[in-house]
Formats: sequence, structure tokens, C-alpha cells
Amino acid sequence: MIIRPKVRGFVCVTAHPEGCAAHVQEWIAHVKAQGPIRQGPKRVLVIGASTGYGLASRIAAAFGSGAATLGVFFERPSEEGRPATPGWYNTIAVTRAARAAGLYARNFNGDAFSDEIKRQVLDAIRTDLGQVDLVVYSLASPRRTHPRTGAVHRSVLKPVGQSYSNKTVDTDKGIVSTVTIDPASETEIADTIAVMGGEDWELWMNALAEARLLAPGAQSVAYSYIGPEVTWAIYKNGTIGLAKNDLERAAKNIDSLLKLNGGGRAFISVNKALVTQASSAIPVVPLYISILYKVMKAAGTHEGCIEQVQRLFATQMYNGQVPKFDESGRVRIDDWEMRPEIQAAVREIWPRVTTENLAAETDMAGYRSEFLKLFGFGIAGVNYDAETEPHVPMP
Ligand code: NAI
Repeated sequence: MIIRPKVRGFVCVTAHPEGCAAHVQEWIAHVKAQGPIRQGPKRVLVIGASTGYGLASRIAAAFGSGAATLGVFFERPSEEGRPATPGWYNTIAVTRAARAAGLYARNFNGDAFSDEIKRQVLDAIRTDLGQVDLVVYSLASPRRTHPRTGAVHRSVLKPVGQSYSNKTVDTDKGIVSTVTIDPASETEIADTIAVMGGEDWELWMNALAEARLLAPGAQSVAYSYIGPEVTWAIYKNGTIGLAKNDLERAAKNIDSLLKLNGGGRAFISVNKALVTQASSAIPVVPLYISILYKVMKAAGTHEGCIEQVQRLFATQMYNGQVPKFDESGRVRIDDWEMRPEIQAAVREIWPRVTTENLAAETDMAGYRSEFLKLFGFGIAGVNYDAETEPHVPMP
């Protein structure tokens, strides 16, 4: 069939197999071009490995450091005549490239929050690799079924305490408007923390430690975001920010656990705002990202997920480097985004953006092309007019 993008609000309901594979190849090429990551990880578990920051982590580990990788993700597989979600095709491309390079790659498509997937992954580590030396926790999920209580928690993206109004953009239609979001209820706050907080990361790490599947000195990292004041009400001080505070709480506990395990460590890396399936669902943030892209591209400091994670590994975690922690014990690879001159330029543009001047004042074109790339569209060298087979089994 011929597969075209079908954008519905902030999602695209189709994905292109060859396009996703070509996108993955671009990321692999970037990592290879930076050269090997010395003393890098060799046996890596990535939880949330199929798109965004987790996919970048898997690629940086495999192709920068020659690591065996296990990837956990939740994607809809392809069917006869129906494309999969993009992470399915991304994972097929990573797996093929890794195996072609002689690297172990194994995949678990299922609910990372469940005991069952944890059990399967632990069994695979025990049988295939013995232990892991890096665990990347990069889940972004709208819901979690709690493995002990069976309760289904749904995360919300809302302010806390009072309602919040700001500019936002409909990235599909290119319309700038004001959005007002009512504050979250106590239950919504607790639910968001249950989904996006640190409890599940701790369950994973405790299970791995109890089963003695963590190599001495093993590290673990989870990703967070802080961003500028213009987004704080919806992000840093909103429900998701409270969940990220809980992730930081978990990082401290896991760090203590790993320190006792041969001097390892766990920490939060604060990453740059980027177009991913997760971030496109947040109100206000896509408008900020489209301005940020314009400013950072002009400054020559723009990065995508793969550049971010390659830099994290090469300058903070491996290559003879140690993490440079901020006052709260976090690694900051959002450092270039948060530079005063970058933020001053964003603040200057923000108040004057309208529907009419959106194309000139922001990099909405760049935002859209990045968004389509997440689904394998708009990639150079891919013939989108050609027939393609949507049903591709996992190798
Ligand atoms: P994403 O939506 O691209 O990736 C999410 C991953 O989680 C996918 O691999 C998906 O399959 C997997 N997943 C979701 N639910 C699952 C489940 N129940 N079981 C197994 N796998 C599941 O998201 P993105 O943006 O890469 O986010 C990853 C982390 O990075 C999040 O913690 C996010 O807050 C953080 N982050 C994102 C930033 C951004 O601008 N996109 C900035 C800074 C941090």
C-alpha cells in the first residue's frame, strides 16, 4: 500500500516502515560519526526504547559503545494492510542494524509497569547476558495499571493550585490561541505521580538488584525536564513536574542501592525540550519548542534526541568523564537550551507570536517536519509514492 501521513491533532495515525528505518539509520550514522564512546556500557537495558530519548539511548549504547541491548516498549504491531506505530518499525531497524554489526539485541513489546514483563526481561538478562551495566528509564505513558493494587492511574497535564492561561498553538492547523487549563484535583495529581513518578523505576531496579542482575558499578539514568518560566505552570510546577520530583526522590534511593553495588550510581538527566510523541501532547510546550528551535538553530546549538544522548554518554557518563551534577544532583544536558541569551531571545519572541506571523517568528516548519519524521515521513531518499508493505514482523 501507499502510506501517507494522517495527522489527527497531536498524533499521526500512520507510520512509514522504510521512513522509520531511514530515520533510525540517520541516528546510527550520527553516533558512528562521533567516534567510539570509551569505557562505555556493554550490556544495557532500555525501558521505553522504541521512540524519542529511549530509542536514542539504545542507539548511542549499541553503536557508540558496542553494547548488547534489551529494549522494552509498548507499540502496536503491524497487521495485514495496517501500519504499526512508529516504535515498532524503529525497533525492527535498530535490531537489524545491531545484529548485522554482530551485536545482541532483544525486544519486549508489552507493559513495562507489569510484573509479567519485568519477569520476562529479568529471565532474558539472566540467560543471555548474565548482568546489565546500564539501565535507562525513559517511559512516557498516559496510564499505568498498578501491579499490586490493579488500579488504573491516568496521568494528566494540568497546573496545580490555580488555573493557568497562556498562548498555545495547534501545530496541525497553525493557529495560535489562548488556552486556559483548570487545576488538577488531588486525585489527578496522585494519579500522575503514580504513572510518571519514580515508583516503577524503583520496582525495576529493586527486582534487578534482588536477582543479582546488576553488574558491579552499574549505572541507571532517567530523564526529566525543567524548562523556562513561561512553561512552569504547566510543566515544572504542574502535575508532570510533581511526578518528576518523585522521579528525583526515586533517583536518590536507587543511587544508594547502586552505590552499595560496587560503586555504581543513579541520577536524573535533565534533557532539552524536543518534538516527540510525548511532548507534542502538552499544551503551550509545542509553541515554546517552535520558538526555541528557531533561536537555537540560529545560534548553531540545536540538537535532537540522538545528539543529546550521545553528548550525555560521551561527556558525562563514559569516555573517562564523570557526571557534573547541579545543586540538586541532576545532570543538565538542557544546558544549551537554558543559556541566558537563548532564553532571552525566546522571551523576546513569545509575546508577539500570532497566527499570522507564526511562520516568520517561529520554526513551525521545522517543528512540523520533525513531527512527521517521528512517523517516518519527509525523510530524504525515501520514495513515498512507492508501494510499501506495512506488515513487517519483528526479527
Ligand atoms: P516517547 O513518547 O517518544 O517515548 C516513550 C517510550 O515509552 C516509547 O518507547 C514507548 O513505547 C514507551 N512506553 C510507553 N508506555 C509504555 C508501557 N506501559 N510499557 C512499556 N513501554 C512504554 O517519549 P520521550 O519524549 O522520549 O520521553 C521519554 C522520557 O524523556 C520521559 O520521561 C520524558 O518526560 C523525558 N523528557 C522528554 C523531553 C521532551 O521534550 N520530549 C524533554 C526532557 C525529558
